[in-house]
Amino acid sequence: MKTIMRLANVDKSFGGVHAIDSLSFDIYEGEILGLIGPNGAGKSTCVNLIAGVYQQDSGGINFNGMPLLRQSMPDRALMGIGRTFQSPKPFEGLSIRDNVFTAALIYNKSMKDAEKATDEILELTDFAPIRDMPSSKLPIEKRKWLDMARVLAIRPRLLMLDECLAGLTPSEMEESLALVRRINATGVTILFIEHVMMAVTKLCTRVVVLNEGAFLSQGAPAVVMREEAVIKAYLGEEYKNVED
Ligand SMILES: Nc1ncnc2c1ncn2[C@@H]1O[C@H](COP(=O)(O)OP(=O)(O)OP(=O)(O)O)[C@@H](O)[C@H]1O
Ligand SMILES: [Mg+2]
Repeated sequence: MKTIMRLANVDKSFGGVHAIDSLSFDIYEGEILGLIGPNGAGKSTCVNLIAGVYQQDSGGINFNGMPLLRQSMPDRALMGIGRTFQSPKPFEGLSIRDNVFTAALIYNKSMKDAEKATDEILELTDFAPIRDMPSSKLPIEKRKWLDMARVLAIRPRLLMLDECLAGLTPSEMEESLALVRRINATGVTILFIEHVMMAVTKLCTRVVVLNEGAFLSQGAPAVVMREEAVIKAYLGEEYKNVED
């Protein structure tokens, strides 16, 4: 399997908080990797380090064999590193279509290419029929979809989804899982951060577990979720009983 992203002994502190503690793991090209762990474990910090919001204090982050250290966020986006946020951030004043088109203009060389890319993304994300609706009119779950649609316009090779299911009903969750699968099927590697374990089990072939900024475990979801250390640090004893 080809590694698209490698973290090697990465450390990051915020003042006295050691948010990421000598963390190493790989993301393989084409996979949907789950990144799980308790609140404050360092999952979003990981995304922010990869996306270039923060710089690591030490250790290496490699994308496609290229070291990431001082590249800006926009440079990393253009390299193919995409992310969404825990709280969706659409361009409120713009229509759904223009949210995607604005991002497509950054990546594509001509208006025509940007229009074509926008149309394809609106189809993939089911927004085509309501493309002219103001984004401010969208309910929360569709705002998360719009975040995903917009980031697709930069043609990410790696897409990091930070809790894209939080607050959704079970049927909205199923629709969102189907969308993530469709995006993955277009060749986009996914880093999927989520607390809803049912979704992680359904979607991910592999998970990495963090605890207090450090690597705790990795493997197939069904296997990892039965490990004593993971149950103790994160899932809790009730989970063990529910599953059995
Ligand atoms: N900009 C920051 N300044 C100070 N501390 C921070 C900053 N960002 C994160 N932290 C701290 O780093 C630790 C890891 O936080 P992070 O947000 O990465 O956790 P998380 O795993 O995403 O948690 P959650 O599941 O609640 O989203 C926490 O102790 C947090 O308070
Ligand atoms: Mg987080």
